Amino acid sequence: MKRILFVDDEPAVLSGLQRMLRPMRDHWEMTFTGGGEAALELLAREDFEVVISDMRMPGMDGVQLLGEVQRRHPRIVRIILSGHADHEMILRAVGPTHQFLNKPCSPELLCATVERACALQDRVVAPGLKELAASLDSLPSPPVIYNQIVAEIGSPAGSLEKVGEIIASDVAMTAKVLQIVNSAFFGMRQRVSDPGLAVRFLGLETIKALVLSVHIFSKYDCDPRCEQAVRELWSASARVGARARQIALLEKSAREIVDQAFFGGMLHHVGQLLLLAHAAERYSGVLQRLQASPELDIEAVEFEVFGGTHSDLGAYLLGIWGLPGSIIESVAFHHHPAPLAQAGFGPLTCVHAAAAITAGLEGGSSGRQCTVDLSYLEALGLVDRYPLWLEECRDQGEVAAA
Ligand SMILES: [Fe+2]
Repeated sequence: MKRILFVDDEPAVLSGLQRMLRPMRDHWEMTFTGGGEAALELLAREDFEVVISDMRMPGMDGVQLLGEVQRRHPRIVRIILSGHADHEMILRAVGPTHQFLNKPCSPELLCATVERACALQDRVVAPGLKELAASLDSLPSPPVIYNQIVAEIGSPAGSLEKVGEIIASDVAMTAKVLQIVNSAFFGMRQRVSDPGLAVRFLGLETIKALVLSVHIFSKYDCDPRCEQAVRELWSASARVGARARQIALLEKSAREIVDQAFFGGMLHHVGQLLLLAHAAERYSGVLQRLQASPELDIEAVEFEVFGGTHSDLGAYLLGIWGLPGSIIESVAFHHHPAPLAQAGFGPLTCVHAAAAITAGLEGGSSGRQCTVDLSYLEALGLVDRYPLWLEECRDQGEVAAA
């Protein structure tokens, strides 16, 4: 049973939440407390998986509380539930907060947010990996892309379109911007899979503040042992994204599916990026073993070393960050999509096939192995389409990488 701590200085709000969430009693163990100090005392004594806090509270406010929770208990999922927040306060909240919900919040949205954030918890076995994912404010970007975005937003001629293009070309920036727009920080209601649209919604001034003051992006200070693997990861992610989009287009998918396939492909190795950035030495050991013995299964080796795979870790991170479910599924199941065969053709199908085609065309070095699951495609009635996808995708990746 999940343990959830609600923090709000208004007793009427707490009793309202208690009443509204009564049907969840069989699934959640809920504790309600009136302020930041009391919450920290409870957290020091008892285990919780999620903290949901009000923003404006006397004494310690919600942002300060979640900052402390991030520091003292990094594996806990941190959510703000706020009735009134000004722009400056929202900007302060972006760092320590995983997700942001507006009051009044329907029980359905609150439950879906918590359940989605915790959905993949059980697939990541090692507590250290969960803690690593939940503790992060940002993922690192290549210095050249980081410098490009800083220059673009600092230039009097800087354009939103160009900023959107730069962000969409990078794994870490795409993930972060999608977290911000999908978490209702800035009041966007529908779920967004396209960082270009996210940037247009936020506007140049907000993006400037997020990049320059809040530091939502960071520069990758690459460990030399992983340099080659990191370079491959960035370029292969773009090619898998481009190929996944191509497959979605070949199947005449709706615009939304095409976007989700592209960004699912861009983000499918976000878990590897996390491991390369924060466990460089151990992950370079994994990659060396795979290079020496290419017949080994990458996910089996990762599980043996870390207690979790790059697919599960990446999906867990994006789940905590509140990204659309179709992108999370594409990340979680890109090697083994069979459990979702019932769902039919979708972004996952495109990402799985694109990852397999990319590995097949370019070799499976550095942990990019992925083989196509033909029985999954057969279950979808698409096995005859695979040769066409392969043919059409052959040149697509090179275009994307150019
Ligand atoms: Fe993979």
